[in-house]
Amino acid sequence: MKNALTDLLGIEHPIIQGGMMAISGAELVAAVSNAGGLGVLGQKGNSPDTLPAWREEIRKTKALTDKPFAVNLPIHVPFIAEALDVIFEEEVQVVATAAGNPLPVLPQLKAHGVTVMHVIPSVKMARRVADAGVDVIVAEGGESGGMIARDRVSTMVLVPMVVDAVKIPVVAAGGIADARGLLAALALGAQGVQMGTRFLVTKECTASDDHKEAILRAQDTDTRVVPIGRANARMLKEELHPQAMAGQIGGMITSVETAGEVIERMTAAIKSEFNRMATML
Ligand SMILES: Cc1cc2nc3c(=O)[nH]c(=O)nc-3n(C[C@H](O)[C@H](O)[C@H](O)COP(=O)(O)O)c2cc1C
Repeated sequence: MKNALTDLLGIEHPIIQGGMMAISGAELVAAVSNAGGLGVLGQKGNSPDTLPAWREEIRKTKALTDKPFAVNLPIHVPFIAEALDVIFEEEVQVVATAAGNPLPVLPQLKAHGVTVMHVIPSVKMARRVADAGVDVIVAEGGESGGMIARDRVSTMVLVPMVVDAVKIPVVAAGGIADARGLLAALALGAQGVQMGTRFLVTKECTASDDHKEAILRAQDTDTRVVPIGRANARMLKEELHPQAMAGQIGGMITSVETAGEVIERMTAAIKSEFNRMATML
């Protein structure tokens, strides 16, 4: 698979592993990147004290892979200037900004030649950040795991509208875990997918076994949206796990695989899924 997104990021498959705080560490990121996707290293925490460990994690990732990878920069962290210093000092090539307005940090990132992907939950935000000069838009629907936007526009609705609204590559996120989801995203006009929940349930992800097993047990209806401060998070229902984030697509996931197996299975099945569709046209 080759398109403007894979060319821009220098990756083989248009599959991105979304940043997931400390549980998307060096092993997961390197496994995804080594399998031809793009791993995204999460933040270690919300305190500036976590920055030295984060820098170590970036170095560890570089030691584990020669392939492109990204780091996640939630805009709301209270140590954004220091985090940018680490990014520039460690010569990180791709930054996945999220959870806020990237406009104040964009000039600095672009001045250092960093490719910027930004996660948005609405067409309005997509237009604003595309006009400001981000390179890639990740359109994340409300079925996603993790922090989600108040209006919870679904991936199916959001992606084609964002594709129509901007001229840069769009990545679909939220509710994708297999080749059918990847194909659907491409059909909606996206150039790739970002998955969180599917990559959480992998051997390399450092989420707890309890968290992974709860997702394996989850059905499609087993998540809830919980207010956290002024934001919302999609989490598993309390009876499955008291405090674990997961997307609705957790209902589809039935085994813990390696990140490489996830990517291999998706890319191996995409042609047969496409042919199945073609017979109906
Ligand atoms: C447990 C968990 C933690 C997450 N943490 C972050 C995060 O720190 N930063 C971020 O940008 N997105 C975060 N996300 C969102 C993912 O990067 C991704 O966009 C999302 O999971 C896609 O939806 P899916 O779960 O349906 O695949 C998180 C998702 C999950 C499931």
